[in-house]
Amino acid sequence: MPTPDLADTDRLLARLDRFDLTPEATGLRSRARELLRAGPDDTVVDVGCGAGRAAAEIAAAGPHVVGVDLDERMLDTARERHPGPEFRHGDAYALPLADGSVQGYRAEKVFHSLGDPARALAEARRVLAPEGRLVLLGQDWDAYMVDSADPVLTRAIVASYADGMPDPRAPRRQRALLMESGFRRVEVEGRVLLFTDAEVLPMLTGLASAAVAAGAVPAERAAAWVGEQRGRAEEGRLFVAIPFLLVSAGR
Ligand SMILES: C[S@@+](CC[C@H](N)C(=O)[O-])C[C@H]1O[C@@H](n2cnc3c(N)ncnc32)[C@H](O)[C@@H]1O
Repeated sequence: MPTPDLADTDRLLARLDRFDLTPEATGLRSRARELLRAGPDDTVVDVGCGAGRAAAEIAAAGPHVVGVDLDERMLDTARERHPGPEFRHGDAYALPLADGSVQGYRAEKVFHSLGDPARALAEARRVLAPEGRLVLLGQDWDAYMVDSADPVLTRAIVASYADGMPDPRAPRRQRALLMESGFRRVEVEGRVLLFTDAEVLPMLTGLASAAVAAGAVPAERAAAWVGEQRGRAEEGRLFVAIPFLLVSAGR
């Protein structure tokens, strides 16, 4: 897999920093830690760890945490920001970990970018100890709710963005996939994150630009849609709801 472009990594970092500090995202990470149930002597791997916030939060409670990511620049940022965890370069399909060596496996906002989730889950089972636990969390990119005077255009924009990803509906497929992959006691929890202020505008602008670039929506209609959303933000009428699923299981 090619190394991500520097500008792409910077944009992703800025987006993650904006999102990950919201109370809603903080609450999701906290619930994921509860579901992981890692003790102070356990080792946890955070796959696709990004800039390392979740890994650091887990390490603060005692476990040894290994953050793994494909992107070296993300890993450099994670190492600069968080001295607690260990950060290693690696791929979700070939983790730099021995068989049965971790008691916890987590991946947040990662599986939508994996073309072969079954292979990643087989790799998760390889590195997990017999009593180990797995927690996956992420949004369903094809189920974004954005209030707009033009719901048909909104659907086209959301669908076009989702269709550009390897597995945009990953969360809704994970319950069945985990059971098929041999995981036990698979449980799913859902949370809907609500956004009603201007902070969500860059995300909406990104959706619209991607729909234009994909040829799914004419540029003028996308610009009008973004204009409508800006107006709503100024009037306090913006409404975006994003469904997140937390899927947990025992090895
Ligand atoms: C949207 S970011 C999420 C980062 C972090 N988990 C968070 O929630 O803030 C996805 C991360 O997964 C990494 N990633 C994507 N595909 C990967 C793969 N096959 N193996 C390991 N990391 C991967 C990307 O480099 C990126 O840092």
